[in-house]
Parts: sequence; C-alpha cells; structure tokens
Amino acid sequence: MITEEKKRNTNYGSVFLFCFFCFVFVAEVVRFAKPYYNLIETDATLAEEAVVEGSYYVKNSVSPCHFMSSSSVSAVPKKKQHEKLSAVATLWRERPPTSYCIKFESFATLLKLVKDGKYESRPFSIGGYNWTFLIYPNGNKMDGANGYVSLYARIDNSTLISDPKDVYAEIKFFVYNRVYDKYYTYQETEARRFHLFKPEWGVPLFQPTSVFSTPTTGYIFDGEQCVFGIDIFVAQTFKEWEVFSFKENIKDPIFTWKLTHFSTLFTNSYTSDSFSSGGSNWVLKVYPNGDGYGKGNSLSLYLLSASNEKAYVRAKLRVLDQIRSNHVEKLVDGWANATENSNGWGYEKFVPLADLKDASKGLVVDDALKVEVEIIGFSKTDSTLSVF
Ligand SMILES: *[C@@H]1O[C@H](CO)[C@@H](O)[C@H](O)[C@H]1NC(C)=O
Ligand SMILES: *[C@@H]1O[C@H](CO)[C@@H](O)[C@H](O)[C@H]1NC(C)=O
Ligand SMILES: *[C@@H]1O[C@H](CO)[C@@H](O)[C@H](O)[C@H]1NC(C)=O
Repeated sequence: MITEEKKRNTNYGSVFLFCFFCFVFVAEVVRFAKPYYNLIETDATLAEEAVVEGSYYVKNSVSPCHFMSSSSVSAVPKKKQHEKLSAVATLWRERPPTSYCIKFESFATLLKLVKDGKYESRPFSIGGYNWTFLIYPNGNKMDGANGYVSLYARIDNSTLISDPKDVYAEIKFFVYNRVYDKYYTYQETEARRFHLFKPEWGVPLFQPTSVFSTPTTGYIFDGEQCVFGIDIFVAQTFKEWEVFSFKENIKDPIFTWKLTHFSTLFTNSYTSDSFSSGGSNWVLKVYPNGDGYGKGNSLSLYLLSASNEKAYVRAKLRVLDQIRSNHVEKLVDGWANATENSNGWGYEKFVPLADLKDASKGLVVDDALKVEVEIIGFSKTDSTLSVF
C-alpha cells in the first residue's frame, strides 16, 4: 500500500513538472521570438515605404542617388525613423573573448555547488570601471530562466555613487565549443546602459543547461571542462567639442581702435588693448609700415586671439574712412595659424601706404588712423563644457 501511494505521488509530481516545463518553454519561445518579430515588422514597413518612394521617384524623375540621400529621408515618417532596432545576433567566433574568461574544471560540480544560484567572477577592470561576470548554471529564476545558463555583466556601482552617470557598454557573451573550435557568441547591436540602480545586464536564456551535460555538443571537453567569456566595450562620450556661435549670439561684435599721431609712429608694430567679444578676448595689431610682403608699401592689419586660442573666425577688418564712410574693408574667414608668433587673421597688404597719405581718402584725419573689427562668427574647441 505504501509503495503504491508513493508511486502515485511521483506520477502527479512528474505531470506537474512536465506542465511547468511546457509553460516555461512556451514563455521563453515568445521572449526569444519577440525581437525577431519586431525586426521583421520594421523591415516590412520600410519595404512598403520604398514602393511609395518608387512612384515618387518616377514622377519627379530625380536621379537615384540624389533621391536616396535627400527625398527618402523626408518620405519616411518621423516616428518610424526613430524607432529603435535592437537586433540580436548569435554567431560563431574564432577570436577569443577580450575582456574576461572563466574556465570551470567541471560544469557538473559547479551546477551541484551553486544549484539555482550563481557564480560571480572576481572583479576585472574595463574602461575605467570594475566589472564582474555572473553565471547562473541553471538559470536566473528572477529573470524567468530555468534550465538555461544565464549570463550577466555587472558594473561595480560603488564607484558610481560619487560620480553618478550612465555607462554605455556593448556586451558580448561567449562559450567555447570544442567541436567547432570556436566561441558561440551572443551579441546585440545596441550598447546597454548601466547606472547606479541598474548595475547589471545579461542574457537569461544563453544556452540550455542540458548541452553542458552532453560531451557530443562540444561545450564540455577534456572531462567536464567548459569556458565562458565576455567582451565589454565601454563607449566613451566625446571629450572635446566645437561650438560655433553666430553673429546674433555675439555681444559687442565691433571694436574700434584709434591710433593718434600716426605720422610719428616709428615702431614696427602696435597692438591694441584686449577687448572682449563673444566670450573671447582679442587684440588688433597694426604694422604702420607693413609686414612681410606688405613691408614698405602697405599697412598690415590683423585680428589676434589674446589668449592665442585656436579658433575658426569670420570677421570684417576695416580701416575707417573718417570723411565719407567709404571704409577699406576685408573679410577674414578660417582657422587661425596657431604658431607661436602667428599674426592671427589678417592681411599683409591691407591698404597701400599711398592711400593713407592721400588726404582725400579720409583714412588719416588729424593725424589719426581708425581701425575696426566686426566679429561675425567664430567657433572654438572646448574640453571644459559639459554636454547635458
Ligand atoms: C577596482 O577594484 C580595485 C580593487 O578592489 C580597486 O582598487 C579600484 O579602485 C577599483 N576601481 C574602480 C574604478 O572602481
Ligand atoms: C548597486 O546596485 C544594487 C543592485 O541594483 C543595489 O541594490 C545597490 O543599492 C546599488 N548600490 C548603491 C550604492 O546604490
Ligand atoms: C601659418 O604661418 C606660417 C608662418 O607664418 C605660414 O608659413 C603658413 O602658411 C601659415 N599657415 C596658414 C594656414 O596660414
């Protein structure tokens, strides 16, 4: 009687287990299928739009390249364009993992030891952060995995307390296969976001646990050994950027400098006081008797960055006509020549000396010369600005 009772119990138990596994299997198939389904769906919509664009193309008879680069962008509805494509790929790779590897001498023993728990690697350093590699040999139940090996990357979030920020990392998981002599690889196209409160990301359903108990699959070899690996590539955000401010953003774009007793100026060059425009400091530099090819025949005029900054500048330099406002004006446009003794932006032959002597031109009045700069736009590289 007692044995019979026991038998019946076992039967109920196995029926229950069977049903449970069926449920888990279906649930997991749905989970896995979902990203692919999304991908297919998006492809289909794109294809549909391509047909619409095709007729548009014929109607307007635009050349294909031109059409692809400009019209197609506007033809795709905004919402679709920004839809995220998170593609998943599993593939075989010959090259070993770059970040970290764990070899278990016996997968079966690991399974016995940690049961439904996990093994956590010792910390390793990637991209300025400490990471650990987590392996659940029989699945992470919290993530709905059972009977699967689950793999996770975890960032040491203690360092993110003092400097709370998002760390984006591309993660790949590997397991070595002796039969193919390659690494079975799981990777996604999107980098994953780690932060203080979400320090962990991984794949619950990496491989069925059962493949690690069958030597013919190649995942265990030389007895019961197996090797798991991980690649972590921390995406760095840019450190330097370029800001281009336009005229409308520039305060005090015009600076005028009057040089008196012009005829008695004997020094090679004269530099103005520095003035501020658009958050940068500048000076004007005049060579009354010319510089370089202008020497002896022209006045040379330059705009310089007071702090010797390397920047892109677009500005108008002028020698003012003090009678009829018929100014001598020249445009400078480009990156500074940042060599030590550079003259910045300007012209060796800005205005002929003969024109300065010609009183009718109004450039020198009461023995005074007026030079002017109007800064239209400039950009500079800056590593101190924060982005967000
Ligand atoms: C990584 O771990 C080591 C050893 O525990 C520690 O000395 C180091 O400061 C850690 N680095 C970071 C960036 O957390
Ligand atoms: C680090 O992440 C874990 C897991 O989410 C969390 O429990 C813990 O509070 C985090 N640490 C800090 C210092 O916030
Ligand atoms: C920079 O200055 C040097 C020396 O004056 C000159 O040879 C060179 O052509 C200049 N480069 C530019 C881009 O102006």
